[in-house]
Amino acid sequence: MKKFPHSPRFIGFVAASIDGRISLTKNKLPNCTSEEDWKFFQNSMKRFDAFVVGRNTYDSAAKRLQRRNTYVLSSRPKSMEENGNVKFVNPSRVNLKKLFSKYKNVAVLGGAGIYRLMAEKKLLDELYVTIEPLVFGRGREMFSGGTKTIELQLLSAKKLNKTGTLLLHYQVLH
Ligand SMILES: NC(=O)c1ccc[n+]([C@@H]2O[C@H](COP(=O)([O-])OP(=O)(O)OC[C@H]3O[C@@H](n4cnc5c(N)ncnc54)[C@H](OP(=O)(O)O)[C@@H]3O)[C@@H](O)[C@H]2O)c1
Repeated sequence: MKKFPHSPRFIGFVAASIDGRISLTKNKLPNCTSEEDWKFFQNSMKRFDAFVVGRNTYDSAAKRLQRRNTYVLSSRPKSMEENGNVKFVNPSRVNLKKLFSKYKNVAVLGGAGIYRLMAEKKLLDELYVTIEPLVFGRGREMFSGGTKTIELQLLSAKKLNKTGTLLLHYQVLH
C-alpha cells in the first residue's frame, strides 16, 4: 500500500446494546446511552481534528457535526462536495488514506457500514466500544457488510457506572 507523509491515528467510537445494536432508527441519535458514556464521548472528541460518519449518522446529528471538520461518506457525490465545515465524500472515487493524511487524529463515528469500510481499508487503529446493559432485539447492527473478519486485541475494560455500562478499548490488528 502507498505510504503518505503523515499517517493519522484512526479511532472508532461506538455505543451498543449487549446484543450489538447501535440504534433503533436510521436517522435519529440513540437516546439510550448513559450519562457516563456521553461524558466520555464528549471529552474524547476534543483531541480529534477530523470526524468520519456515514450519511445517516450525519443526518441524525447534523447540527453538532456541522460545527466540526466532518467527512460524510456517501455514494452520492461524484467525488467530493464541500458545504462549510462538512465534506461529502464518495469513498469509491476518493483515496481516503491520502485525504486524511494531513490530520493527526481522526474519529470514526459510524454507523454500521462505516466502521466496517474503514477497518477493511486499514483506516481503523483503535476502537472504543461502550456496552450499555440493554437488549434491543432489533435495530441497526454495530458492524454490517464486508467480507473480512476483523481481529482486535482488548487493551482495557472499565465499568462506568452502577448499572454496569462497560467501556471496552481495543486495538485493531491489521
Ligand atoms: N450508537 C452509536 O455509537 C452510533 C454510532 C453511529 C450511528 N448511530 C446511529 O445509527 C444510525 C445510522 O447508522 P446506519 O448504519 O444506518 O448509517 P450510516 O453508516 O451512518 O449511513 C449509511 C449511509 O452511509 C453511506 N455509506 C455507508 N457505507 C458506504 C460505502 N461503503 N460507500 C459509500 N457510501 C457509504 C451511504 O450513504 P448514501 O445512501 O448517501 O450512499 C449509506 O446509506 C443513526 O440513528 C445514528 O444516530 C449510532
